[in-house]
Amino acid sequence: MKSHLLLPLLFSSICLNNAKCFDFHYPAVFNFGDSNSDTGDLVAGIGAQLHPPNGQTYFKTPAGRFCDGRLIIDFLTDAMDLPFLNAYLESLGAPVFHKGCNFAAAGSTIRPATATSVSPFSFVIQVEQFVRFQSRVLELLAKGRKYSKYLPSASSFTDALYTFDIGQNDLAGAFYSKTFDQIVAGIPSTLEEFETGLKILYEQGARKYWIHNTGPLGCLPQNIAFFGTDPSKLDELGCVSGHNQAAKLFNLQLHGLTKKFQAQKPDATVTYVDIYAIKSNLIANYSKNGFEQPIMACCGYGGPPLNYNSQISCGETKVLNGTSVTVQACDDSSEYVNWDGIHYTEAANQYVASQILTGKYSDPPFADKMPFLLKLKF
Ligand SMILES: *[C@@H]1O[C@H](CO)[C@@H](O)[C@H](O)[C@H]1NC(C)=O
Ligand SMILES: *[C@@H]1O[C@H](CO)[C@@H](O)[C@H](O)[C@H]1NC(C)=O
Repeated sequence: MKSHLLLPLLFSSICLNNAKCFDFHYPAVFNFGDSNSDTGDLVAGIGAQLHPPNGQTYFKTPAGRFCDGRLIIDFLTDAMDLPFLNAYLESLGAPVFHKGCNFAAAGSTIRPATATSVSPFSFVIQVEQFVRFQSRVLELLAKGRKYSKYLPSASSFTDALYTFDIGQNDLAGAFYSKTFDQIVAGIPSTLEEFETGLKILYEQGARKYWIHNTGPLGCLPQNIAFFGTDPSKLDELGCVSGHNQAAKLFNLQLHGLTKKFQAQKPDATVTYVDIYAIKSNLIANYSKNGFEQPIMACCGYGGPPLNYNSQISCGETKVLNGTSVTVQACDDSSEYVNWDGIHYTEAANQYVASQILTGKYSDPPFADKMPFLLKLKF
């Protein structure tokens, strides 16, 4: 297995002039989003099937994640010395909501779900689930101390980090039925819906917001396969230009929203993280970062250049053209940026997390501070 060069993050107690110093000590994390940070919610919530080889690299079994291993959120909570977040809808297993809860569900959109949505758990529903979670926790804590080791403390709702990674499905989904101009015109109202959720959380006591922007979705094999058959639609990296352009316009407005929200709520801390820059840098400079395949899916069907077929997903077995096909993984997923045509590999997620933790991609930026060292578990 290839080892990725991860620059050791330097110990530093000096914070940049205008930088907030994150100490990264949070009693809990509450996360909202889509498959980029879903640790099992969609699988639990709609009984979706996730087959091996999902999970093979780290969990050795499908672990509710659309990935061969850990997600960015897993690496971030690990860096905070917190356990992996339990999915809100996971009803079986040890009660593990002591350090937070994950409301993110694969396929979720910011906009309300429709009858054809993959996930019914759109953003404001996730926020309402949080409100319900919080009130149940406070009710149970009031009943006596026996619950306190399973549940977040009352004060942790204010001290917790609230993390967000959502919007990709609003954009990617819209391309199937709308023109580029219509999609761009819909961004402000999508972000109003997002702002509504942020405000509800603020009313509930949230003060620390950590907001990921959306990645270069035009570089995902799923989108290239469908929208990139005409080479004039592709950019110099082989990504669909329109999708990346829409993602950038979405991010510009999301960034504006985070600034506005910060100005309106001076007692809150709002951090915007430029995931787009990190992921596009990874794809453009893949070999420098230890990868061999920037675009092609590791677990897919069809072979180069994309190894992606929308009729069959990673781990699935189906009869295609009269032949039974089972979609297997590539030999070494750590050489690939993309796992299944839509989601990143664990190796790519680890790279992205290590870049987030440099603090350089955040607004406001933060200086490296211990305990920031990503524990390398390869
Ligand atoms: C790739 O790396 C070069 C050199 O570090 C940098 O200038 C460029 O911006 C990177 N590409 C992307 C898309 O970030
Ligand atoms: C099935 O066969 C048709 C015709 O030969 C071909 O165009 C198509 O790509 C095949 N599909 C798959 C999934 O192999």
